[in-house]
Amino acid sequence: MNRSRILFLCAAALLALPTAAQTLDVNLSRPGASIQPTMYGIFFEDINFAADGGLYAELVKNRSFEFPQDALQGWTPFGRVAVRDDGPFARNPHYVRLSDPGHAQKWTGLDNHGFFGIGLQAGATYRFSVWARVPEGGSATLRVEFVDPASAGEQQAFAQERVVVASREWKQYEVVMTAGRTDPKATLRIFLESRGVAVDLEHVSLFPTDTWMGHRNGMRKDLAQALADLHPGVFRFPGGCIVEGTDLATRYNWKDSVGPVENRPLNENRWEYTFTHRFYPDYFQSYGLGFYEFFCLSEEIGAEPLPILSCGLACQFQNDDPAAHAPVDGLEPYIQDALDLIEFANGGADTPWGAVRAQMGHPAPFNLKFIGIGNEQWGPEYPERLEPFVKALRAAHPEIRIVGSAGPDSEGAQFDYLWPEMRRLQADYVDEHYYRPYAWFLSQGARYDGYDRKGPKVFAGEYACHAQGRKVNHFYASLLEAAFMTGLERNADLVHMATYAPLFAHVEGWQWRPDLIWFDNLRSVRSASWHVQALYSEFRGQQVLRTTLDGAFVTGAEGQDGLFASSVLDGDRIYVKVVNTADAPRTLTLNFSGLKKKRSVSPVERVRFTTDRLYEDNTLDAPEQIVPVREALSDAAEITLPACCFDIYVFTLNSSKK
Ligand code: AHR
Repeated sequence: MNRSRILFLCAAALLALPTAAQTLDVNLSRPGASIQPTMYGIFFEDINFAADGGLYAELVKNRSFEFPQDALQGWTPFGRVAVRDDGPFARNPHYVRLSDPGHAQKWTGLDNHGFFGIGLQAGATYRFSVWARVPEGGSATLRVEFVDPASAGEQQAFAQERVVVASREWKQYEVVMTAGRTDPKATLRIFLESRGVAVDLEHVSLFPTDTWMGHRNGMRKDLAQALADLHPGVFRFPGGCIVEGTDLATRYNWKDSVGPVENRPLNENRWEYTFTHRFYPDYFQSYGLGFYEFFCLSEEIGAEPLPILSCGLACQFQNDDPAAHAPVDGLEPYIQDALDLIEFANGGADTPWGAVRAQMGHPAPFNLKFIGIGNEQWGPEYPERLEPFVKALRAAHPEIRIVGSAGPDSEGAQFDYLWPEMRRLQADYVDEHYYRPYAWFLSQGARYDGYDRKGPKVFAGEYACHAQGRKVNHFYASLLEAAFMTGLERNADLVHMATYAPLFAHVEGWQWRPDLIWFDNLRSVRSASWHVQALYSEFRGQQVLRTTLDGAFVTGAEGQDGLFASSVLDGDRIYVKVVNTADAPRTLTLNFSGLKKKRSVSPVERVRFTTDRLYEDNTLDAPEQIVPVREALSDAAEITLPACCFDIYVFTLNSSKK
């Protein structure tokens, strides 16, 4: 064999040798920043039929006959039905009068079609209620039915009850109905059975009796449970752009969302018409799911409530005319709304707004700590409006932390203008939003490493990976969110809150995707992104541990081949999060440095989140096809991650008594 051939073979052999595994070092000598309990939270906004038709368990659409284009939108009346407008609830004046149809063979009544139909489960019970009176006296019997109008069977109805109305005064009547079978798209039918009598109906409502926590004005149990299972530390509500309104008249008005549900006025929902390619002319806000319900839910799921209020700017995407906004010297009512909200949440039952809360069933304060002023605002028109709010809130409530906005962009001119402004105004948090593509998420592992530590803290208030050409939920997008979140965690001294967005979407009524939780009238599914959020929340930990790859933070930087990592300490537990975004497996040596004498680390568990269906997600029909898998861990000196994988390694930090 000649010399050059030998050299060639040696070189080839060297190339074939596996490269030495790089060392991922977790340093235990000095645990770093505290991770805030608020770190991983949720953001509710009424988009994609998230409230009415979604989380809010009301099954009747347009229950108060207030839809503005047509008081009977969502209903099919038959016989003699007239809409009247001198009803018992001042802010919802419309109701219907059902009269004798005028012939023994004819019938009067009306059908309600719910939200994409009415979802009913066999054997489950539903509370039908209605405000009613017989205006001219007598007695009216209503036959209330669950029907399948498209049924080929002998009977359309699969549940039937009767309600007798015998008072000239408005009263609420109710009856519990049991669904004879499951139907995702049933109709509620009301027949006037009696002859020669008229009956007035208002606020026609149907709720499952089995709501979240059994509340009468309750939430859909599976959807609320999907929130509770995230163990969120903070709960931002009620939006989003609906906080601002297309015009100020239609901004979310929290004062309209409290008190008896019958008298909460209807508001339009801008997501009805924002996208003409996903247009929903029957999308309104009943405010049945209002601020009281949001505060109660926060309490029940253990999250700090974070309400966001209008700063006097109507949606800036939709308004070029400065006259669309409240003038700076006309902000008093908006500022008063913020002050009154704090009283509603925290004031004694002897204060005007605290009394409203107490009357609604919650005499104890909600212990509100945070408030956001403005949603996704920008330009000089925002700080000039925020300033008087800050002054008034600081003077009256120095204990309340204020959240300002960095606008709609993740970087750029507006972002660069707003951050110094938020510093100048001494906002406590700045809400950053980023719906960005793969490349952005892959490049932002070190986003917060260089931020100024002296100013406001960061609230990553809306984010999701939006792949170009693939703007749907899929595993790979969730993997990049997991990778990016290592940077949030490593910078926990600065980043105090983070909430994915949007939260919910009805499969038949969405305007925006991807979303965290999808549902139809009976089922729901937790996306891969949901599982990433849940894992971060479960393994939140208490303190950051310095985690490096060959001495550098693991941020997917050049030379790190798409690897991201961060670690935390949680009492005597250590959670090491490693995300391999590359399309090749990755082997690492795992080292714990800085261990004090007599201390040791032992492996407990590995939680692995991966799939080979990179561009798929869980679906309503296959809700658990992509879920984390847990395995006991006996040795983790060397770890191998498959391609596209998010692993969490759990260890115990032992202290020997010897
Ligand atoms: O989440 C959808 C929208 O995105 C929000 O309403 C708004 O804040 C952002 O532009």
